[in-house]
Amino acid sequence: MSANETLIAENDAELAHFAAELMGRAIADAVRERGVARVALSGGTTPGEAYRLLAAYNLSWDRVEWFWVDERAVPPSSDRSNYRAACADLGLDRAPLSAGKVHRMTGESTDLEAAARDYERLLRASFGVALAVRFDVMTLGIGDDGHTASLFPGMSSVHVTDRLVVNVPAQPQKNLEARLTLSAPVLCEAGLVLVLAKGAKKRSVLIEAQSPGSLDAVPSRIIQQAKGRVVWILDRAAAP
Ligand code: 6PG
Repeated sequence: MSANETLIAENDAELAHFAAELMGRAIADAVRERGVARVALSGGTTPGEAYRLLAAYNLSWDRVEWFWVDERAVPPSSDRSNYRAACADLGLDRAPLSAGKVHRMTGESTDLEAAARDYERLLRASFGVALAVRFDVMTLGIGDDGHTASLFPGMSSVHVTDRLVVNVPAQPQKNLEARLTLSAPVLCEAGLVLVLAKGAKKRSVLIEAQSPGSLDAVPSRIIQQAKGRVVWILDRAAAP
């Protein structure tokens, strides 16, 4: 079971500040302890401001490896690309120190099963074949339907335990394209998970996410099984 903490922010700026501070410290600690920090980034609307703040931090940027929690089945140039959004917010596209250290999921692939396998191989190569894929810090969001990462309700993807990366089919009824996502065991292994959510619409789903019940109905309940430190960074409207 994880060590859980909740930070309630008074406004968007404070929420972003809390997240950037915790990301920055986790990165600095990992670089000091192991010479490298591995970060997994979620998309969605909430973390952008935190990433923009973090971009101005005085970090050992050449020691940070960037990965994605999930990606939509779109090209990297799309404005729905999680890669594109995070790169722009963090300034990774302009930072020479990050060259070769930005590892995107290839959402544009015509074979997402192969793309998931490729990302899995990349993770194994980066973390070491015999070692757990344990990110130093990971950001997660919570969808209004209870998803986290791209583990959506009713799709059983949250139960996949023999893969590091899962290929999630499109959901035309929700107008959602197919996705690639880190699997539940990888989410649970992270040293620090920052769950970012704001707005009154998230309140009831956050209560569900923190309550016992079916994982497939509310996949964000998987965060209850996280092994590392979990910090819920919420605004007052979202806070259960
Ligand atoms: C994505 C995400 C997804 C997101 C949640 C919350 O690609 O959409 O990674 O899991 O984190 O949907 O999104 P908001 O931050 O917009 O509420």
